[in-house]
Amino acid sequence: MWLQVAMFVTCLALGTQGQDRATLLRTNNRDGRCQYTFTVDSPLEASCPAPAGGPKLSALESRLALLEAQVSRLVAGQAGAGAASAGLQEAYSQAMREKVQLQRDKDRLDRLTQDLQRRLEELRQENERLQARPCPPHLPPTAPLRDSNQRPSSGPNVPSHLGSRSQGQSERTSVRDSAWPLGSPGFQELKAEVTELPASQLSQESGESSTGCGELVSVGEPVSHRKADNIAGKYGVWMQDPEPVAPYGSTMIWRIDTVGTDVRQLFGYEDMDQLARGFPTKVLLLPEPMESTGAALYRGSLYYQRRRSRTMMRYDLATESVAARRDLTHAGFHGQYPYSWGGYTDIDFAVDEQGLWVIYSSSKAKGAIVVSQLDPNNLEVKRSWETNIRKGAVANAFMICGRLYTVASYSSPSTTINHSYDTATGKSKAIAVPFQNRYRYNSMVDYNPAHRKLYAWDNFHMVTYSVRLAN
Ligand SMILES: *[C@@H]1O[C@H](CO)[C@@H](O)[C@H](O)[C@H]1NC(C)=O
Repeated sequence: MWLQVAMFVTCLALGTQGQDRATLLRTNNRDGRCQYTFTVDSPLEASCPAPAGGPKLSALESRLALLEAQVSRLVAGQAGAGAASAGLQEAYSQAMREKVQLQRDKDRLDRLTQDLQRRLEELRQENERLQARPCPPHLPPTAPLRDSNQRPSSGPNVPSHLGSRSQGQSERTSVRDSAWPLGSPGFQELKAEVTELPASQLSQESGESSTGCGELVSVGEPVSHRKADNIAGKYGVWMQDPEPVAPYGSTMIWRIDTVGTDVRQLFGYEDMDQLARGFPTKVLLLPEPMESTGAALYRGSLYYQRRRSRTMMRYDLATESVAARRDLTHAGFHGQYPYSWGGYTDIDFAVDEQGLWVIYSSSKAKGAIVVSQLDPNNLEVKRSWETNIRKGAVANAFMICGRLYTVASYSSPSTTINHSYDTATGKSKAIAVPFQNRYRYNSMVDYNPAHRKLYAWDNFHMVTYSVRLAN
């Protein structure tokens, strides 16, 4: 830029040499800019004709104006750079001040974190102390739904402060288990009321039914393993896999609260004790919601009815994905042929010594119970039997050794299993095996062939019944 200016000035100086009387007139034009008028006397009037001199002069004028504008711009630019540098300086010191403040905040937060960690450790130790302490010998105030037949010595009753303990344990569980849905609004583990099975009863039961298949001759008293306090636990389904598959062992218990329209959560507990305490170690989210309390567990898969459909789903627990799905041809669903208690219990899976079954009705059967044996891999119907038992007249049904049994009432505290249907002969018969609905709202009854027990969900209570079979 300066080079341009210098050259221009030099040219100007050279251009004026040899001129005798040259005058440079400087005036302001209308824009407030300087206007230079350059006048030279000419000895030969003809050598400087007026029309020819005009453009040259005006060209010079405009070049000067341009020069001046450039100079003033340069000067202004220099001033601006100075101002910018001052601004930078200010911004830098501001940033430094902020850095110091942030460092101070960080130190304060570090101290706070250490403090919280110390308190968390204290709480954890307190929690462990509480768990190690034996439960108090006296019973807590009797709850309205307490098992009245339970002897006081039948096992430790969980004291009322379980609520806070449960929370501590849940926190630990969540640390251990990445599948835990933190902050999930759909899940609330509240305090549980627990009665445990006395050891004497356990050994008596396990010794009793190791004698192969047979007809059902009696059902024991219900034993409550857990009471759900949360309204979502009014009815549901809970089960143990009779033929478990890794990574889950034989003591693993699975539970689904089926109140609500978007039933997807499957809670896994390591054993009865963890179920009783309410500490799941696994929570699985089904990719498609389920309906009914008819789900069953078999060989590492959960079998269930997809919501508002006759689609049977096989959900593989190990891969946590759907392994098979199939429509159950002509089956009623969503309240077409439920059990007498309702609840969209149209399609009910069952497992026994002979494998996987599904109990339902169809328009063709006109409400009579149909039982189909399923291929557990691909859910294909292997064979079907149409019974003469009306599905809507029975409270529930289950399979033992290839025989279908139906419960007469879901609410009567003492009712009967009053029908059986043998798939081997295609014959049904009236029976009268006493059965108790101790909590008066029994929404699920399933047989577990490995444990030789009925599993039921009776009004928040997850209960088991021992069974006796005879030839
Ligand atoms: C079984 O009980 C149900 C419900 O009370 C009743 O409708 C049915 O007739 C009974 N069946 C037999 C065979 O007694």
